[in-house]
Amino acid sequence: MKRIAITGANGFVASVIRLYGSGRYEFIPITRKEIDFSRPETVYPYLSGLKYDVLIHTAANAVTEFCAANPELAHAINVESAIEAARAAKDQNARFVFISTEQVFNGRSDKGPFKETDEPVCVTNYGNYKLEGERYIQENLEDYLILRLSSMFGLPMPGVRPSSNFLMRTWKALKSETPAKFTPNEQRGMTYIMHLADHLSEILELPSGIYHISSRNDLSTYDLCRRIAEVLGYGEEAIQKYILSDTERYADRFRDYRLDGTRLREAGIDLGTMEEDLERCLKDFGWKE
Ligand SMILES: NC(=O)c1ccc[n+]([C@@H]2O[C@H](COP(=O)([O-])OP(=O)(O)OC[C@H]3O[C@@H](n4cnc5c(N)ncnc54)[C@H](OP(=O)(O)O)[C@@H]3O)[C@@H](O)[C@H]2O)c1
Repeated sequence: MKRIAITGANGFVASVIRLYGSGRYEFIPITRKEIDFSRPETVYPYLSGLKYDVLIHTAANAVTEFCAANPELAHAINVESAIEAARAAKDQNARFVFISTEQVFNGRSDKGPFKETDEPVCVTNYGNYKLEGERYIQENLEDYLILRLSSMFGLPMPGVRPSSNFLMRTWKALKSETPAKFTPNEQRGMTYIMHLADHLSEILELPSGIYHISSRNDLSTYDLCRRIAEVLGYGEEAIQKYILSDTERYADRFRDYRLDGTRLREAGIDLGTMEEDLERCLKDFGWKE
């Protein structure tokens, strides 16, 4: 059985991979207890002491505001430690899987969705740090995958604590009757996390390179959250009251950082649409028949 070391092991993405991959893979979970990624000098020695065939590096500080306010610390966690992890995987002849983000395109002023061959342009530290990691890997490793994820969503279950996502934010606003604002000046993907579980073994066998992991979505973030509310069964009155349009956010420039999933589709993995994902998630969790 293949041995997979996985960092950020208790995070959203890693928890789902571990939960649904158990039985097919032997996982070596790496949490904050094993490695503190704010100390890059500890990463290579620790990872060199393990034996694995694949190293999936999910650990990161993915909070855009944190990366903006703490550039040195965020750089240590998101770039320097990622490079140390990549070096360790390389030296052990293991495949390195780096989890990146759609945010690498957030500085483009043209329309998405963007392909893997499109030039990333990014205006945030978070995205630029991911790009720096990507570039190191492309230039120095031969056996690697860079998986750029759109916004991933799911609901909480034992052992899985989803990171902030549009489904949960919309549901919480409606359920608690507390208005929440979403921008109409942005378009991005929203992908059910279960795709990663469904297709893990095929993804891990893909030829080295960058892959975009996103379902298709044609709605702005505001319209997307309105659509979620409709699918959750709320009427227009509640939607107008609690799902508000934040026209100020990104008023300077419309941001479209959707990822084009053609490359993955051509490899036989079709993720479908955001609407299909939403229906499936709500059925999986018994919220809809
Ligand atoms: N979820 C998405 O929608 C999405 C979209 C695009 C890209 N991504 C990328 O996917 C990866 C996983 O995201 P996620 O949603 O699973 O995030 P998450 O739930 O926040 O998980 C991140 C993990 O990284 C760990 N971590 C953070 N700082 C650390 C440090 N200094 N030392 C050790 N561990 C540290 C966290 O440990 P603790 O549990 O101890 O805090 C957590 O387990 C990230 O690289 C993110 O950039 C996610």
